[in-house]
Amino acid sequence: MIDLKSKYGDARVWRFSVAPMMDWTDRHCRVFHRLMTRRARLYTEMLTTGAILHGDRQRLLGFDESEHPVALQLGGSDPRDLAASAKIGEDFGYDEINLNVGCPSDRVKDGRFGACLMAEPALVARGVDAMKRAVGIPVTVKCRIGIDDQDPETALDELTRAVIAAGADALIVHARKAWLNGLSPKENRDVPPLDYDRVYRLKAAWPDVPVIINGGIAGVGEAREHLGFVDGVMLGRAAYQEPWRLLAVDPELFGEAPRHTTMKDVFEAMMPYIERELMKGTRLHSITRHFVGAFHGVPGARAFRRHLAENGVKPGAGVSVLREAIALVEHRVAAPIAA
Ligand SMILES: Cc1cc2nc3c(=O)[nH]c(=O)nc-3n(C[C@H](O)[C@H](O)[C@H](O)COP(=O)(O)O)c2cc1C
Repeated sequence: MIDLKSKYGDARVWRFSVAPMMDWTDRHCRVFHRLMTRRARLYTEMLTTGAILHGDRQRLLGFDESEHPVALQLGGSDPRDLAASAKIGEDFGYDEINLNVGCPSDRVKDGRFGACLMAEPALVARGVDAMKRAVGIPVTVKCRIGIDDQDPETALDELTRAVIAAGADALIVHARKAWLNGLSPKENRDVPPLDYDRVYRLKAAWPDVPVIINGGIAGVGEAREHLGFVDGVMLGRAAYQEPWRLLAVDPELFGEAPRHTTMKDVFEAMMPYIERELMKGTRLHSITRHFVGAFHGVPGARAFRRHLAENGVKPGAGVSVLREAIALVEHRVAAPIAA
């Protein structure tokens, strides 16, 4: 019998997080998100163990100090490779290692990792065990409720039992199945129906295990409702496409003063980072591409987007392009923070 109570730390660290999203949650995006909330836990894009072990580690894993708390998401299934990659991540300063057991793309399936691992709980558990032995930071798993014709009642229980016995510190559950045959990754984020109740039942069955719910959650108000049933909420697309929603996280979910109250202030605070990055050779567009949803329902939002799209890509584009774009927004405040 595992003594769960003494094993788990404070589940509040997972109360709110922004999901790992490939091509989206790169380090520039995470710095931007961090300026809107001190408290959200941020996740990297998935990095495969192969990339970490054989690639340019500084480019792949380097991040800005301001990003903490930030978790590294791994894709892989070989326990030795996972352990080595987790250790490298810990040495880089990440606050958590998360294993991807939810990504449905073919590329991922061929490599025997991602969502197809829902069918191999013993292998996932060996990976978790190896990572737990290698690092001192929390090791977590992000999964689906099942895949294909699996019964989510048993599939999610089996995976949970296996990874918890192996030492996993929390489970993040995207509350829908992945259908591995026939749907694109994008369709797999929308088509299989959401089943929040399944995740609530998981939490009820494992009261001491931090359970975080993910999938289709539109904003901070909805997040608060889920928090009546689970320990944490992870927002993906809503956080990226409408980043102003993150301004509500600290006041509404943590009872703390917001870091900034308007997007104008956020951008002002972001300028020194952008200038430093430009000096290092980063193209302005690599950073400003994450800003497209920054103003919502605000007059001038479209002009803001267009100005950035047209001018941010020009060679040598500097912060003046961003300043000009902001000047096109009439009321430079965040849209009302209704969720
Ligand atoms: C562009 C994009 C890339 C994604 N990449 C990853 C990834 O690298 N790892 C992962 O676990 N999930 C990935 N996801 C899935 C999200 O983490 C999340 O589980 C999913 O979008 C459902 O949450 P949402 O409805 O709040 O967006 C990605 C989603 C999107 C939209």
